[in-house]
Amino acid sequence: MLPRILCTGLLASALALAAGCSKPEPVSEPEATDKAVAETAAEPARQKADSKGPEPGVDYHSFANTEDYRVEHLDLDLAVDFDEKVLEGEAKLKFKRLTDGNPPLVLDTRDLDIQAVKAGHGGQMEAVKFSLGEKDDHLGTPLKIQLPKNATSVAIEYRTSPDASGVQWLEPQQTAGKQHPFLFTQAQAIHARSFVPLQDTPSVRITYNATIRTPEELRAVMSADNDPQAEKDGVYEFEMPQPIPSYLLALAVGDLDFKAMGERTGVYAEPSLLDAAAKEFEDTESMLEVNEKVYGPYRWDRYDLLILPPSFPFGGMENPRLSFITPTVIAGDKSLVALIAHELAHSWSGNLVTNATWRDLWLNEGFTTYLTNRIMQNVYGDERYKMEMALGYADLEEDMADRPDSDEILATDVRGRDPDAVFSNIPYEKGSLFLYELEQKVGRENFDQFLLDYFNHFSFQSISTEDFLNYLNETLLKQYPDKLSAERIHEWIYEPGLPEGAPHPTSDAFARIDPVRQQWLDGEIAAGDIDTSGWTFHQWKYFLDGMPEKLSDDQLAELDETFGLTESKNNEIAFSWLMIAVRNDYQPAFPRLEEFMVGIGRNKFVRPLYRSLVENGKRDMAERIFEKAKPGYHPLTVKVNSKIIYGDSED
Ligand code: BES
Ligand code: ZN
Repeated sequence: MLPRILCTGLLASALALAAGCSKPEPVSEPEATDKAVAETAAEPARQKADSKGPEPGVDYHSFANTEDYRVEHLDLDLAVDFDEKVLEGEAKLKFKRLTDGNPPLVLDTRDLDIQAVKAGHGGQMEAVKFSLGEKDDHLGTPLKIQLPKNATSVAIEYRTSPDASGVQWLEPQQTAGKQHPFLFTQAQAIHARSFVPLQDTPSVRITYNATIRTPEELRAVMSADNDPQAEKDGVYEFEMPQPIPSYLLALAVGDLDFKAMGERTGVYAEPSLLDAAAKEFEDTESMLEVNEKVYGPYRWDRYDLLILPPSFPFGGMENPRLSFITPTVIAGDKSLVALIAHELAHSWSGNLVTNATWRDLWLNEGFTTYLTNRIMQNVYGDERYKMEMALGYADLEEDMADRPDSDEILATDVRGRDPDAVFSNIPYEKGSLFLYELEQKVGRENFDQFLLDYFNHFSFQSISTEDFLNYLNETLLKQYPDKLSAERIHEWIYEPGLPEGAPHPTSDAFARIDPVRQQWLDGEIAAGDIDTSGWTFHQWKYFLDGMPEKLSDDQLAELDETFGLTESKNNEIAFSWLMIAVRNDYQPAFPRLEEFMVGIGRNKFVRPLYRSLVENGKRDMAERIFEKAKPGYHPLTVKVNSKIIYGDSED
């Protein structure tokens, strides 16, 4: 537990002491006005869940008293210090007052060293008292600011911690070019508070401006109006005129160049990756166009991609105007570009219409998964569409096999839990399947019209599951009472599992794989007899993922020798194969396994591999690889996987 406050913040203590600690005295603990403050003060967050169930629209993952004040604009001025691994500067927040009283303004922070706070109205700012509350493991630390009457802005001087949960600082060695350091942020779900003090809840939207000061040879980019022509002079100015939730605030700094892919689309990457990335993702402009045709105009001006180093913990992150993308999807044959379709689709589902709380994540991810499939169909055709859907269904089945019932609910209760730990295929694939059923029932054209209207109706708003349901009741359900039922919709959203008779997407291209896999398993044919010449990536993945739990050493060696699986350059294929290798103790693949897990920090890959190592009696090996890889991993990857390996966890 941290001390309550803080003329001497832990990290700044030396500095503050040297400076004579000129910070104002902290305010005495204010009256708890806010649900999170009140509950956290009384009991740890993870005990908050009660029998009543969560209240729709209430964000249990923020301390901010959004019913008293609503931040509307952020002005950020930050210097990037690669030696100290800190961002340092000022965040100025302009807010609207929603109450007549003058309660303290409560913001979210995590491991921030707050140096001074001013508040005021217009240009008139004065130093004010502030205090930091108790640190909560999941939520961080509330910052309470005593405001002068009529104040409508605060200016907070602060430094981030080198261990900020939402920032990864990379050594040159971890980049493609190996010459320059690299920095990127990852704010979703609740990590923006580790690099900016703000109301860190998706229920609040802000516009922002930023000045970012970097070493001169590097370029800064943000989820804002990037200018590829900007002079590399160490000072970058940004404006984000469309209001966004805090989890979409994003910054990256590195040796980055730009290449245009289309009129509105382009890619930022380290120089050595630029051409390959631009080629791999050259269909991005077409994806944008086909999606606009169905769901209405793209509302964010440009759509660019930023290719990150392989330690990026996700496949992609839909930061507006600039999706952050793992380099592990540059396969050379566009086989993994559904990821781009996915991040692009978030420009409608998620960024335009946003989940109000993390319980409503399925409104973001389920809708986006549905849209992704539609983009893939429109750009690459029916067969690809069906295969993508069938693989998604397989992922869903796998997750439903080993999750508790309560985690299979779309609007799942995440109170008291770390939103990162609740991550699964349920919001994605079950959410998407639900929309697919609606489409099947009312007809595609009608459903498209519904979604187009939905995006327009709620554009630039944050909504809860219940807001969506109310809208559905007033629209589609009224229009098609003979085709839809409120009970069934309720079951999809609030019950575990799938409703009886839910759609089960299949693919003919996969149906052709099943018999040959079986013949080989039965010893009727050799691996070399299988005609794989026309197989797509998806068919390979399906072939491997459908293998039984146990294979013999001879079978493993035959597969590997015939198809070169251990050496596969496609990271998804390599992953599927390595999962088979781990559970069957296929040692020839272990050097590749280690290289893969050390070189790639994408959680979708490393987490199941660590789990499987542990479950298959190889905890020592998991530990050894983890300790070797850890210095290069993102804080989130470290946290999630050390739970698996060392067991200090909620999951
Ligand atoms: N927004 C997510 C990533 C995310 C979700 C970060 C929740 C933190 C909390 C992103 O759009 C995403 O879903 N990425 C997927 C890709 C996808 C094709 C399913 C990923 O990274 O694997
Ligand atoms: Zn997503």
